[in-house]
Amino acid sequence: MAANWKMHKTPSEAHTFTTRLVGDLAARGLVSPATAGDRSVEVVICPPFPALGAVAEAIRGAGQWGVVGLGGQNLHWEDHGAFTGEVSAAMLADIGCHYVIVGHSERRRLFGETDDGVARKMRAARRAGLTPILCVGETLEARRRGETETVILRQLDAALEGMEEGPAGPGGGLVVAYEPVWAIGTGENASGDEAARVVAQVIRERLGKRLGPAAAGEVRVLYGGSVSPDNIGEFMAYPTIDGALVGGASLKVESFTAIVAAGRRA
Ligand code: PGA
Repeated sequence: MAANWKMHKTPSEAHTFTTRLVGDLAARGLVSPATAGDRSVEVVICPPFPALGAVAEAIRGAGQWGVVGLGGQNLHWEDHGAFTGEVSAAMLADIGCHYVIVGHSERRRLFGETDDGVARKMRAARRAGLTPILCVGETLEARRRGETETVILRQLDAALEGMEEGPAGPGGGLVVAYEPVWAIGTGENASGDEAARVVAQVIRERLGKRLGPAAAGEVRVLYGGSVSPDNIGEFMAYPTIDGALVGGASLKVESFTAIVAAGRRA
């Protein structure tokens, strides 16, 4: 279960919040070091850049470092250089990130991110040993035109260019989030059925072709878009969906904890 805070929470707010959240998750036995047969849930928190250090400190303070993961929301494709305002994969890794969100639809739509830019960011993340959480998903217009599959395959193919050697790293080295753009922040979620169909028949299919069945089997595939404590069960009912990328509902301890609890599988 990945929390995408977007542009919310200052470093001090993030510290207080994470201390409470991680304390609650640990107290309820929802997160713990991976041991055979345990039913804990992998949790990743992706705060804004300035709050990464504070969140890392709070996770450590709660004794859950290495258990609860930390992720960036974006990165630059170069390792360093004259790129005012940008952040490199090595910087994220050094502050304690194991993950980074790549190609979120808000970045594609509002900041002009292209498939080529996404591909370069994927490679930069991997060079630094970060596991990308690659976001793919169709817009409402594309969906109405019946182009859901075409759009997702185009995004996946571009992003996976050069990654045929297969995943390696935390979380299998690659996480894919299916986020239909029309469902993000709108309160209108895809149905579990629809999401599971796209995940199984489009995303997992293609991952299998490109990475081989064994490596593809390691990839976590998440659903994202207006996930809430009320609808998470609908998605987790499908074994092809491993978890969720959660925006709005990750900003409150109660709602995110409820979502993590629903991520428990027998
Ligand atoms: P939302 O955002 O849960 O607020 O819809 C999800 C996302 O953008 O990752």
